[in-house]
Amino acid sequence: MMNEQEQMQQEFYPMPRIGDQAPDFSAMTTKGPIKFSEFAKDKWVVLFSHPADFTPVCTTEMSGFALRKKEFTQLNAELLGLSIDSIHAHLGWVANVKEKTGVYFDFPIIADLDMKVSKLYGMLQPNESETAAVRAVFFIDPAKKIRLIMYYPLNVGRNMDEILRVLKALQTSDKFKVALPLDWKPGEKVILPPPKTLEEMDARNKETGIERIDFYLSKKELKV
Ligand code: BEZ
Repeated sequence: MMNEQEQMQQEFYPMPRIGDQAPDFSAMTTKGPIKFSEFAKDKWVVLFSHPADFTPVCTTEMSGFALRKKEFTQLNAELLGLSIDSIHAHLGWVANVKEKTGVYFDFPIIADLDMKVSKLYGMLQPNESETAAVRAVFFIDPAKKIRLIMYYPLNVGRNMDEILRVLKALQTSDKFKVALPLDWKPGEKVILPPPKTLEEMDARNKETGIERIDFYLSKKELKV
């Protein structure tokens, strides 16, 4: 049974889950005010939070997103950052990183000083920090459904290859109605949905041109 503190946390810090509709919101960003649903239009959105501006791990992560923005654009995905800092802090940090390293954070970063969006998306996890968002990544599809969520603590940076890999995996799964095995990367074999009836199982057992380990585990090359 949940204790009083846990009940309060569930009430005040809801955790959106995979399959939920992404909560809509309005916010001020480094690219001006946005309403999430209008910003997203018919694209994928990678919504990510970081604990604080002018901090070392966050600077490496935001630079990682900036340096690979083109790859997200090619995947029809918009980047949207967030931290519980003011617009002035965001602007100062973006300008500072550009001056010191030449990397420009050319995507909107939400100034979430009132913690509205952080709380809405379960980015504020009070047992980790009551004032800083954890490192969350929400993958939201064009239908505004949350498809994958990552949570990292304050002291561990994320992995940009993995962020791009799972976005490609989600899109591949949607397009070809397949599943992706451990460590899958584009170009590797994909998993066929297992048969659900005896008839489908017989058909799968007779299928050629696939790697059939058994009726429930079959892989194939994708013809893209
Ligand atoms: C960082 O980004 O370096 C950081 C932020 C908050 C806590 C610890 C590290």
